Order: sequence, then structure tokens, then C-alpha cells
Amino acid sequence: MEFETKAIHSGEERTSDDGINAITPPIHLTSTFLRKDIGSLLDGYAYSRLSNPTRTILEKKLADLEGGRFCLCFSSGMAAETVLIMSLVKTGDHIIASDDLYGGTKELLSMLFAESFGVKVTYVDATSTRDIEKAITKNTKLIWLETPSNPLMKLCDIKSISVISKKYRVKLIVDNTFASPFLQKPLLLGADAVVHSTTKYLNGHSDSIGGAVITSDKELYEKMNFVRKIDGAILSPFDSFLVARGVKTLAIRMRQHEENAMKIAEYLEKQKKVKRVIYPGLKSHPQYELAKKQMSGFGGMLSFELYGGLTEVRRFLSGLKIISLAVSLGGIESLIEHPSSMTHGVAQGKNIGNNDISESLLRLSVGIERVEDLIADIASGLKKIQD
Ligand SMILES: Cc1ncc(COP(=O)(O)O)c(C=O)c1O
Repeated sequence: MEFETKAIHSGEERTSDDGINAITPPIHLTSTFLRKDIGSLLDGYAYSRLSNPTRTILEKKLADLEGGRFCLCFSSGMAAETVLIMSLVKTGDHIIASDDLYGGTKELLSMLFAESFGVKVTYVDATSTRDIEKAITKNTKLIWLETPSNPLMKLCDIKSISVISKKYRVKLIVDNTFASPFLQKPLLLGADAVVHSTTKYLNGHSDSIGGAVITSDKELYEKMNFVRKIDGAILSPFDSFLVARGVKTLAIRMRQHEENAMKIAEYLEKQKKVKRVIYPGLKSHPQYELAKKQMSGFGGMLSFELYGGLTEVRRFLSGLKIISLAVSLGGIESLIEHPSSMTHGVAQGKNIGNNDISESLLRLSVGIERVEDLIADIASGLKKIQD
């Protein structure tokens, strides 16, 4: 089956066991399940913190779409990251992470795992496979990448980094939230696990918070399943239903996000009040060639810098009527945010940020509205900035 078909049908094998034959699987809003006997279950389900049929549908679907054997879904992207890291490291271990990551991930790594649990974290420019290799020590347990990264849209060469990770027996983790499995499949390029904030493109409608980890590594899956069971950060049946429903239109949404983002990036590049535009689909992106090789499309996320500072940023934002000022991304509606004060504000303040996140940088999650309306909105924002 091709991607679009899997997105709709995977995990939803028809059964007529319940005598109802609904085309859309029901939401199993139950905390617990009837048992056959004290020693045996009826259909494999015992308690919804352990597993739930609605969540199982989503987990099968996401595993299939990423080309992995196993998937676990969590109550947020951050919960997915926490369980994944807890399953792989202990005190004294070392993590290599990209210097451009979602601010919350840096807070998790540096302010929880490093400060409270004695895990060492080194940030490197992960666009350089050589710099990653140089940072490896005998205690390194994992390499953590985002590609494209949040918010600087840096790309990491998953295949070449996976050669290094295998050589040193280090786990390679890729946060695939920005690309989605429609555009990039890190497991097929050599990653050991893929992590998602399902809050973003997978759900696609800005009405659910969730996360997922997909892997083909049985030992890692079993460890994470144990940690999730005792930690309890599961995705609820209702949210599982929402994400599984959202995923069905992922391909068609991603195509439109990308078409719109490309046109907006090209428009922004021509504007004299715009200092630089960072979008992997532009020839000016330093890793345009890698994007073409590693991804099957460039996605719907872009960042740009205005000339000036906070005053110009505020003036620009005041002119927007369609594009909303809000954190998050990957929904059908366009959202804009100011990384240095919003998503990455804490990390920047704690000196674990990135010097390239200037105060005139804005991150745009391009929605699937009519692109002419979005460009007119951006033009009205730019008009607010004085010449
Ligand atoms: C790339 C990336 N990974 C992970 C997360 C965390 O996900 P959540 O907000 O669902 O916990 C985010 C949130 O913005 C993100 O942008």
C-alpha cells in the first residue's frame, strides 16, 4: 500500500466481532476491561494505562507510516521525549544534541536530565557530521537531532550520522515533527527511533496535545513500554481518535502546506524589509541539496528575519489579520511566533539557546488557507513597518 492508503487504512482492520460493523472504529472510552479469569485476559486488554484499542489503532498506523515495527503514543511530545530518554540513559551517561532544537527539549535535557539526574549534555552544530563524531565520548549513549530544526530550519544528514552512531554503538534519535513521515522517514535512513509531537502535523488541527515514538528496536520498545506503564504519560482514547483521524489527511495537507510555504518563502525573499528567509526549499538554503536528497518535499515551516528589532517585529505583527500570533505549528491554520521570547525564551535566557535566534526572527507555520490571502496578510504586516 502507498502512503496515502496506509494513512487511512493501517491499524483499522475490519472485524465484525461486535456485530455493528462501523466503518469508523469507535473510541474505547474505558479505563478497564472485563477478564476471563484471574489469570487470563479476554482480548489482550487489561487497563487503559497499559493499552487501549483506540490507542492501538493509532500506534499501528504511525508505525506503518514511519516504516517501523513498534510505536508508543504519549500525552505530549515532551512526555514521549522524557520516556525515550529515561529508557536510554542513566546518571553519568552522555547525550549529544543538536544546537538548534525546540526550546522545551533543551530545557528537558539541560534543566532536568543534566541538572537533576547528572547526565552530561553537549550541544553541537549537527549540520556537521564530523563535529558530532568529535563530541562522542566513551559514555555517549545517544545523539538527538531535529531535522529540519526548530526554529532555524537546519538540516542534519541522517544517513551519514547513522554511520557514525552505528560505529560507536550510540542510539540515533530524530525528532521528525517538522517534516512528518510523509516527507521524511528517518528509520529508513538509519535512525534508531523517531519522535513526534503529534500535536503538530500528525493531528493537524490544533485541537490535541500528544506525542509518539516509533522504533524497530524491540529492546528499546519494551523498555519504553515499561517506563510508560509506570510513568503513566499515555495518550487518552479520545486524543488517540483525534490524531488517527487527523493522520488520514496528512498527505493532502502536507502537499498544500508545502505549496503555500514555497510561494510565501519566494515572496518574502523579494521584500526589502526582510533580511533573510530560511526555508529548505529555497536555493539560498545552505542545505538545499541535502533537503532534496533526504526529504521528498520541503514542508510548511519557514523562519525569516526582519530588518530592525522588536519595534519592527511588533509593527509587523500588528498588521496581520489572518495569521495568528501563537506558539505551536502544523495545523491547518497559519500561526506565527517569536522564538526568542516565546518557544525558545527560557532556553535563550539560560544560555542553552542559539546565538542565531535573533530578536528579529519570526517562525511561520504556513497553513492551508488560500495562499493569496496569506501573502496579502504578510504584505499588510510589512506595510506597518516604516520605510
Ligand atoms: C520539534 C518539536 N518537538 C517536540 C515538541 C514538544 O511537543 P509537545 O508540545 O506536544 O509536548 C515541540 C513543541 O513545539 C516541537 O516543536
